[in-house]
Amino acid sequence: MKYTYLGHSCFLFEFELTKILIDPFITHNAAAAEIKLESIACSHILLSHGHVDHVADAEAIARKNNAVIVAGYEVASWFGSKGLQHHPMNTGGSLSINDVRIKTVNAVHSSVLPDGTHGGSPLGFLFTHAGKTLYYSGDTALTMDMELIGRYDTAHHSFLCMGDQFTMGYEDAVRAAQMVKCNHVTAMHFDTFPPIVLDRAASQQAFDKAGITLTIPEIGKTYTI
Ligand code: NI
Ligand code: MN
Repeated sequence: MKYTYLGHSCFLFEFELTKILIDPFITHNAAAAEIKLESIACSHILLSHGHVDHVADAEAIARKNNAVIVAGYEVASWFGSKGLQHHPMNTGGSLSINDVRIKTVNAVHSSVLPDGTHGGSPLGFLFTHAGKTLYYSGDTALTMDMELIGRYDTAHHSFLCMGDQFTMGYEDAVRAAQMVKCNHVTAMHFDTFPPIVLDRAASQQAFDKAGITLTIPEIGKTYTI
C-alpha cells in the first residue's frame, strides 16, 4: 500500500482497491498550504474523534468525493445530520471496505465536535490488507490496551501520535511500538502548533536505540509500505 502525508494526523491511505482519507485538517494548517483539497480523491473518510484538528475538512472533501464518513457513533451521526453518507462504529467493531478490514481500538483521549456536541469515545484503527496489519493510533496516551493489539497480530507498520502535551510524546510512542510489536513507525500529530514541536534528533535517537525505524514524514510526500 501507499500513504501520503497531508500534515498533522492526516494521511491518504491507498490500498489496491480502496482510497481512505484519515483525519483531514488541511485548510487551517499553515504547514499544509501546498495541499489542495480538490486534489484529494477518496471513497471513505475515517475520523478518529471529533476535535477540529481531525475533522475540519471532512465535510468539504466528503461532498466533493461523495465519500462515506466512517467514525464513532456520535461523530458519524453529527456528519449524518448534515446529509452526508456515514457509517457509525464504536470501539472494538470492524468493517470491511473492498480489500481492507478496519477494526476500531481504544484511544485514551477526549472528543467533542466543533459546535460543542459530545463526540463519544475517541478511536484508533487497525487496517488489515494483504496479510499486513497497520495501526493508526489517533490521539491517545500510552495505554495498556496497546498490549492487546500486539496479541492479535504483529503490526507491520504503526502511525503514532508523538507531539506530546495533547497526546503521548515520542518516548511513550517508543513504548507503544514495543507494545504493539511493531518495528516501523511513522510520526504524526507533531509540529502543527508550537506546543507539539517534535525534537527530531532526540526522537530518532530514542527509536534507533529501541531498534525501531522511525519515519518523520514530509507533507505532500508519498511512501510505500
Ligand atoms: Ni484530539
Ligand atoms: Mn489532535
